Amino acid sequence: MRVNGAWREADVWPGTSLLAFLREALGLYGSKNACEQGECGSCSVWLDGTLACSCLVLAAQAHEREVRTVEGLTSGDRLHPIQEAFLEAGAVQCGFCTPGFVVAVADLLDKDANPSPATVREALSGNLCRCTGYQKILDAVQLAAERRRAGS
Ligand code: FES
Ligand code: FES
Repeated sequence: MRVNGAWREADVWPGTSLLAFLREALGLYGSKNACEQGECGSCSVWLDGTLACSCLVLAAQAHEREVRTVEGLTSGDRLHPIQEAFLEAGAVQCGFCTPGFVVAVADLLDKDANPSPATVREALSGNLCRCTGYQKILDAVQLAAERRRAGS
């Protein structure tokens, strides 16, 4: 499959999930395994441009397809502006849920540069955080959206 712009391959057991493939075969540890049941969003990636829980997709189902992970958002050592907004807003505690949120927020802001609070809540309804209480995550989304609209 093509992962973050580069063709990658590995021999894996037919039942290997895309999440396990990314983490264990390719060493891309940004996507997290929190529930492995499609409930928490911490494993979110784009599969052919659409958000997907990589724990629910077989690696074999992604054969010859385009996968983009949270690692694909950054270039070099610089954080993505959404990641910076999460840090500045205090939206990260243990950080386990954060990559999934960052992917979901990036997907949202690509589709809607000025989302209403209700739209943000709906877009993030598939992502669970057990630490922050969510308000700071919502603050981070607004901060990231404002900066994106301002072009900074
Ligand atoms: S680990 Fe995939 S949704 Fe929770
Ligand atoms: S910061 Fe710990 S689960 Fe979200």
